[in-house]
Amino acid sequence: MDLSWESHGIAFISMIPSLNSMIDIHCHILPGLDDGSQSLAESIEMAQFLVSMGYKKVLASTHIKSGIYNNTAAIIQKKCETLQTALDARGIDLKIIPFVELYLDETVLNKIEAGVIPSYNNRILVEGPMNNWPDYLDSILFKIKTKGFSPILAHVERNRVLNRHPDRIRELKDDGVEIQVEALSIVSHYGESARSCVQELLKLDLVDYIATDLHGMPANPEIFSMAKAEIIQIVGENRWTELHGKKLEEEVLAWN
Ligand SMILES: [Fe+2]
Repeated sequence: MDLSWESHGIAFISMIPSLNSMIDIHCHILPGLDDGSQSLAESIEMAQFLVSMGYKKVLASTHIKSGIYNNTAAIIQKKCETLQTALDARGIDLKIIPFVELYLDETVLNKIEAGVIPSYNNRILVEGPMNNWPDYLDSILFKIKTKGFSPILAHVERNRVLNRHPDRIRELKDDGVEIQVEALSIVSHYGESARSCVQELLKLDLVDYIATDLHGMPANPEIFSMAKAEIIQIVGENRWTELHGKKLEEEVLAWN
């Protein structure tokens, strides 16, 4: 299989100089653990795609959701090691780090206390339902913080309640919840309400992270170039890069 940049018809080389420190904090790259990659070959192809876009690290945000995705930190760690070995053997310069996309329900605090949830720099990526935002979710987010972890709320613009109320998103952020949006929302990949919401959040500087949320090789890889161009028009190229995990890298440097 030809996995070169040219095989996707994209001149990614022009994107690389300003993107070489980027982290993708939301990506289902581990094979066979959730609804993301389904094989090691697919994961390797995704890794090559991410490298071509300028990413150096991926937080392998594997779903954990009661009764559906019963993954644990140990399972995710082991799969990361297997994928990392495969990437290293092929000279693919991408660091794979265990992470989670944790579904917010009444079990999450017990899971955190049991030590089965992987975190990165004390961050835990969490997701809620898409169609509503029950009040108890605010309480769970607060309790996660009392356990010493900082929640990042995944693809906030895709929630059909929150995306109509940016002020509600600001309240969450003011309460210490970091905000992640999908790069592809800006090109209406998730509908018009998600697009308009992410546009407003970027303008209001309420976004902490932009991520791919890849679940496999995209059918049309060029859509990521289109998304990048749209987002840079709003926030500029430096901020585009910063929103790919710069704050996490700065924290790691400060702690060491
Ligand atoms: Fe995801």
